[in-house]
Amino acid sequence: MSGSKTATLTIDGQTINLPIQSGTLGPDVIDVKDVLAKGYFTFDPGFVATASCESKITYIDGDQGILLHRGYPIEQLATQSSYAEVCYLLLNGELPSASQLQEFSERVSNHTMVHEQLQFFYRGFRRDAHPMAVMCGVIGALSAFYHDSLDIKNPEHRNISAIRLIAKMPTIAAMCYKYSVGQPFIYPRNDLDYASNFLHMMFSTPCAETEVNPVLARAMDRIFILHADHEQNASTSTVRMAGSTDANPFACIAAGIAALWGPSHGGANEAVLRMLGEIGSADRVEDFVRRVKDKSDSTKLMGFGHRVYKNFDPRAKVMKQTCDEVLNALGIHDPQLELAMKLEEIALKDDYFVSRKLYPNVDFYSGIILKAIGIPMSMFTVIFALGRTPGWIAHWQEMIANPYKIARPRQLYTGATQRDYVRVDQR
Ligand code: ACO
Repeated sequence: MSGSKTATLTIDGQTINLPIQSGTLGPDVIDVKDVLAKGYFTFDPGFVATASCESKITYIDGDQGILLHRGYPIEQLATQSSYAEVCYLLLNGELPSASQLQEFSERVSNHTMVHEQLQFFYRGFRRDAHPMAVMCGVIGALSAFYHDSLDIKNPEHRNISAIRLIAKMPTIAAMCYKYSVGQPFIYPRNDLDYASNFLHMMFSTPCAETEVNPVLARAMDRIFILHADHEQNASTSTVRMAGSTDANPFACIAAGIAALWGPSHGGANEAVLRMLGEIGSADRVEDFVRRVKDKSDSTKLMGFGHRVYKNFDPRAKVMKQTCDEVLNALGIHDPQLELAMKLEEIALKDDYFVSRKLYPNVDFYSGIILKAIGIPMSMFTVIFALGRTPGWIAHWQEMIANPYKIARPRQLYTGATQRDYVRVDQR
């Protein structure tokens, strides 16, 4: 999408013309590739100002708090669509017709079971292992189970792997939970929708089948939608980076799961609840906020702030609404929700947060909903990974289906200059 505009860079009297490219939305980008031929690298730690790829999947305007998937606002998708439909949209670029959606959902349902041998893989883990550790290993191991579809240059193989990953994620996630509590694994039920089937595998036992509450299934579906994609975030960029080496999709998604795990990214939902637990009661909120603002203290207000959003995360608004719906439907009065609301109220008025444009992100309320559904804290990031899977795959697919290069950033080297080795007895 090269435009007619050019940026000019002058270094030591040498002029370099850099083409400016425009997308359909968002800031123009300066194409800096030509600086390499002139003997320079660009420097942008954390890639805060660097577009690493061209993409047609998701658009974010962080200042306005806008999130669009294939052009559709997240608020509309979260309240009017279903996760299955959003998966189709992310993967295919357009909303499905009724028959396309049915066919897609049936295809996903046909792949919900995992290879029976996979359960022995779980049994190698300690029961108290963090479910993210188990999930990372099991997803990576899928490439050892489904090697009939690993030719990444074959679009049909890529599609089968995409369907397998989306279909098996809930089964694998629920198995992580069942293993951790020592209960038997529960097989999927293909007569249930995606979210209901996940809750069935989480909470049914061989001796008592859980009847899934439709309000909770809807909330679960919405949580999946709200996590489905978020353009070039750390985990998605990791998936693309791993994919650029032509690694198989299961290995790439396992890499994404590892990147998601950190508390600055997907691990924040778990960290929010831990933080609320540590604060304990509403009368201690102000003291906590004081610690957050103290630069000599490393405490952060978890669930607040975002690399891209300098406004309300649009997902947080829907999440808060869903939180109210779930707690009302279950008749739960959760003091942690009150605590979260007090924290939010204070932070939104406080100059520390206002001046730094720190607003609640998607994770601020998701933990409270998950807790109300009965999902343990250690599973929160696993659920994020499950929801993010179609986004990761859509980005991986988009990259592989178009010309790409192995990702290889450069560096500003500040280490020792060349020196001669000195033998240990002479040092
Ligand atoms: N609590 C207190 N201060 C914060 C917070 C926070 N949650 N987030 C940012 N700040 C402060 C920083 O200390 C910095 O202050 P300074 O300018 O005085 O040094 C300023 O705000 C800017 O922060 P950066 O670190 O530059 O922001 P960045 O964009 O790099 O970080 C991040 C974004 C990692 C999400 C950060 O806001 C954070 O750690 N938040 C808490 C964890 C969290 O909720 N993560 C989930 C993100 S959403 C997701 O992954 C789905």
